[in-house]
Amino acid sequence: MKFGYFDDQRREYVITQPDTPLPWINYLGCQAYFGIISNTAGGYSFYRDARLRRLTRYRYNNVPFDLGGRYIYLRDNQSNQFWSPSWQPTRHQLERYECRHGMGYSIIGSEYQGVEARTRYLVPLDENLEIWQLTVTNHRPAPAKLSVFSSVEFCLWDAQDDSANFQRNFSTGQVEIEDEVIYHKTEYRERRDHFAYFACSAKIAGFDTQREPFLGPYRGWDSPLALERGESANSVAHGWAPIASHHVKLDLKPGESRQIVFVLGYHENPKEQKFDPPDSQTVNKKSVKAVIAKYRNPASADAAFEQLRQYWDSLLRICQVETPCVHTNRMVNIWNAYQCMATFNISRSASFYESGIGRGLGFRDSNQDLLGFVHMVPSRARERILDIAATQLPSGGAYHQYQPLTKRGNNDIGGNFNDDPHWLILGVAAYLKETGDWSILEEPVPYDNEPGSEQPLYEHLQRSFQYTLARLGPHGLPLIGRADWNDCLNLNCFSDTPGQSFQTTTNKEGQVAESVFIAGLFCLAGRELAEITCRRPCPDGKEKLQSPCSSAAKLANGYLAEVARMEEAIRQHGWDGEWFLRAYDDFGGKVGSKECEEGKIFIETQGFCTLAGAGLDNGMARKALASVRQHLATEHGIVLQQPAYSRYYLELGEISSYPPGYKENAGIFCHNNPWVMIGEARVGNGDSAFDYYSLINPSKREEISEIHRCEPYVYAQMIAGMDAPTHGEAKNSWLTGTAAWNYFAITQWILGIRTSYDGLEIAPVVPKGWKGFKATRKFRGVTYQVDVERVGPGNNVALTVDGVLTAGDVVAPPPEGVRQVAVKVTLS
Ligand code: BGC
Ligand code: NOJ
Repeated sequence: MKFGYFDDQRREYVITQPDTPLPWINYLGCQAYFGIISNTAGGYSFYRDARLRRLTRYRYNNVPFDLGGRYIYLRDNQSNQFWSPSWQPTRHQLERYECRHGMGYSIIGSEYQGVEARTRYLVPLDENLEIWQLTVTNHRPAPAKLSVFSSVEFCLWDAQDDSANFQRNFSTGQVEIEDEVIYHKTEYRERRDHFAYFACSAKIAGFDTQREPFLGPYRGWDSPLALERGESANSVAHGWAPIASHHVKLDLKPGESRQIVFVLGYHENPKEQKFDPPDSQTVNKKSVKAVIAKYRNPASADAAFEQLRQYWDSLLRICQVETPCVHTNRMVNIWNAYQCMATFNISRSASFYESGIGRGLGFRDSNQDLLGFVHMVPSRARERILDIAATQLPSGGAYHQYQPLTKRGNNDIGGNFNDDPHWLILGVAAYLKETGDWSILEEPVPYDNEPGSEQPLYEHLQRSFQYTLARLGPHGLPLIGRADWNDCLNLNCFSDTPGQSFQTTTNKEGQVAESVFIAGLFCLAGRELAEITCRRPCPDGKEKLQSPCSSAAKLANGYLAEVARMEEAIRQHGWDGEWFLRAYDDFGGKVGSKECEEGKIFIETQGFCTLAGAGLDNGMARKALASVRQHLATEHGIVLQQPAYSRYYLELGEISSYPPGYKENAGIFCHNNPWVMIGEARVGNGDSAFDYYSLINPSKREEISEIHRCEPYVYAQMIAGMDAPTHGEAKNSWLTGTAAWNYFAITQWILGIRTSYDGLEIAPVVPKGWKGFKATRKFRGVTYQVDVERVGPGNNVALTVDGVLTAGDVVAPPPEGVRQVAVKVTLS
């Protein structure tokens, strides 16, 4: 069952009924100002940091959970009836409801008793504000006397504090009202130099800035007293709960349309120019007036929309494919890339499953997010890499997370996740391959943001590698620390106290528990580091050398020797006979072995080791992948492990805290399904790789939306596994490493258009039944038109580049000045 349809032409998903199984959301903003918007206009906004600079309020554990939003009410002043054109919060039975989620904007429209209302919500590029552009049309044969009421509820900036510290919060709220603009200035009188504003383009009949007079005592957003009365209370907030609402009267002739633009924004003043006049307590509005005036004008709002569309057009044009599969095309060309922008921007911090107060940017998460983003805006990827690296500790270890506003490591979430440092190497390698910008390696970057500790980024990568070498366990495999990629495999936690965080508690010294996953990661990162080391231009500033200088070669060989030693340790101690082991626990017992009662086989090591190339030469990779097919694959994707843990295991931690089939306890944790896809591609099995890709492809799952329940246009972190009563139900949509890894797997390994240091590598491993496919890829300033034709069942590639038969599978950069290259590929 579907709740809408894809409009691929316009790059929109169109939701046709408001009561989707869960709120289906979109993100507004892609630079510094962000908003979450659901298909019924629920959601909130923030500037840079969802915790520290929250503009509008979100109430935790609310029902429904998207409540609190960008709500506009309409009122018929003849019948005194009022309704929400976005369905929520009044939930009137609307005629012709439609929500179009597009690239950075959402349009929610409906008709009710002959009155059509359509609101386009968007954040203009390079601005810290959002526009709600409302068009109301009277389709009645008679004139309509209407009122429009806008509404937002302000958050008192720090969202965590806002939701808890009521004894203070109820007394701090302050606003100013001037020229149809409501300014929210709580705490501006003291240490803040920022404020929010909510403006309206029309002449207003009234306003409210205090919640209670607007809603009425004991009432909710579904039945505001102001709407019942047909009049605002003109309230001025002192303490309690500042809101902003405008009342606009609209008399429309039959067939007449009118536009009103609302502008909600964030603004900062220089400290010394906070007040106007300077010795007053009145907000200095001089520097914000121009921007408000600009966007209150519908023509500017239209222009902003057009610019946004062009921006996305240019981003998406970088990689476009035309395959025999509509779901692949739609995800690669539109939605998967779009989701990668959201995960790059927001990491795991703010969605309807991530509260925005819990997590900042993850060290490992953000590095992986780069894989699906770096081709779109490499300059931002560069900045992100340097920010992440600056939080690295001198030991080479990492804070698990950092706050985007301060860019400082966040101690509350803990550290010692021993996989973290290696992801930096992979993130940097992806950046270098995409851009060829070797200068990034020489950028001075501090440790733990400590001034004076700066070292070239390259040194950070070396420390990442050394971090593991200094932490090897009894089998020569990496110690796991607090956990590895699987945050819930807490082998040193031993928590028996309710409420203790599995993520920060450690009750054992941690000198025994080892991770085979980190071993695989180490091998991949080590090989990348060796290659970077060889290719790195000599730091004396000379041009890139043809062959590495001898000290670099020595260093690289040293890395490769460690990798070889680790591969041997995996063969000796990380192989269970039919698949890769997962770990050793604190007692030296096996995790993920046929000897275990539960949790005999895990996906992570099968996926990551094969992706990293382990066991390609000796049959282990193929065996491991066959075991995945046999034990872990389901019709909804590959589960994380089997058999699911049926009880709590003190020595395993959070993984066994989940009921069977959910999250890390045998859920389909979509993030690591692409590792298996890449593994399958590496052993040349295109049918299997693509089959796994299709199982979790959201667009493919659209037709089972009543089972999947999350948005059909983006990946979710998890789909319930076969041990759960709700097998096939997705949760935690949007913010997941699944986005970047799927993008990477399909574009770089299945379609096989891969960035490399020497050029664009083209090595597709696609289904046998495909006759071919086409792709356009912009790479280092050149547009490659790739045309793949299958002439035999295998994966052997023959390249013809601009008409010239070329050996190998790498298309070298064309001569200076050439901007277009045609690549004909035959697969046999
Ligand atoms: C979740 C993990 C998550 C971790 C850190 C756990 O409860 O199961 O998926 O990575 O918390 O936030
Ligand atoms: C979600 C976290 O964001 C990610 O870092 C982790 O790898 C997975 N959960 C698995 O636990």
